[in-house]
Amino acid sequence: MTQQPILVTGATGKTGRRVVSRLRAKGVPVRAVSRSGDPRFDWTDRATWDPVLEGVRAVYVVPLDGAPLTRPFVERAVRLGARRIVLASGRGIDVPDYAPDSGGLAAALRDGEDAVRDSGAEWTIVRPGWFAQNFSEGFFADAIRAGELRLPGGDGAASFVDAEDIAAVVVAALTGDGHAGQVYELSGPRALTLAEAVAAISEATGREIRYVPLSPEEHVAELTAQGLPAADAQASADMVSPLRKGTDAYLSDGVQRALGRAPRDFTEFAKATASAGGWYVPLC
Ligand SMILES: NC(=O)c1ccc[n+]([C@@H]2O[C@H](COP(=O)([O-])OP(=O)(O)OC[C@H]3O[C@@H](n4cnc5c(N)ncnc54)[C@H](OP(=O)(O)O)[C@@H]3O)[C@@H](O)[C@H]2O)c1
Repeated sequence: MTQQPILVTGATGKTGRRVVSRLRAKGVPVRAVSRSGDPRFDWTDRATWDPVLEGVRAVYVVPLDGAPLTRPFVERAVRLGARRIVLASGRGIDVPDYAPDSGGLAAALRDGEDAVRDSGAEWTIVRPGWFAQNFSEGFFADAIRAGELRLPGGDGAASFVDAEDIAAVVVAALTGDGHAGQVYELSGPRALTLAEAVAAISEATGREIRYVPLSPEEHVAELTAQGLPAADAQASADMVSPLRKGTDAYLSDGVQRALGRAPRDFTEFAKATASAGGWYVPLC
């Protein structure tokens, strides 16, 4: 049975990539899939589902944002023999008005959570808050490299969680005992404002990087002036709104509960990323 692989979806993403490395380091057989891999897996092409699901014992599901596809995928996984499902979800999705849900993200994640609970498999749900890696690999990375982060985050704070900690929890749930039926809300050990987070990156890289707070209206106007459709610009402002309001500042105990240790601090993330060349800016 241990020769059966674990399927990791979103395997090139911020959490999936780290889950794959950690499983491989433990000697666990892994089937790592996304649209760019072999075998190719595309959420929107159901012909690609069975070939990646056949013969796997467990699945890490990174849902397609805003799409109601987790339920049929999980049902198919269990039908084909998967006995354990770990789902990537998000903090606040069960809290009314936590954030404007213009992209239907929270509604789709709630349906996905219900689907894994209904699946008949052993399930674990991880609900991370804002990733620290948004500054190095995600939405904010280009701005950080360019030296100026312009966002409607005000002076609200968020308890940024390190994707390494998320991956460690996912791997524990995929391979260990005692995680079935658990919902792990994941945060870092303290909340930081965007100004504090940017200052920590400045300190770690030795480069001057500024945070420029914008109003949501200014942010939408800047993005539309750059050619983004109005709806996408509004979705971007909505996404930042929990940060602006500080609704994502609270701390969660999921890393401690799942791993028996404290989560990694943002400063450690910044130092480790800087020394690995994560914010390297090539000279043209
Ligand atoms: N970033 C945050 O702060 C944050 C906070 C809370 C929750 N979350 C949620 O956490 C989850 C995990 O995100 P992540 O950051 O690990 O992912 P990510 O870095 O955004 O990467 C997305 C992954 O999904 C794959 N993918 C995209 N479209 C696909 C498609 N149509 N079919 C198959 N694969 C597809 C991508 O690979 P290819 O492009 O190669 O297909 C990539 O491997 C997401 O659901 C996100 O909404 C994020």
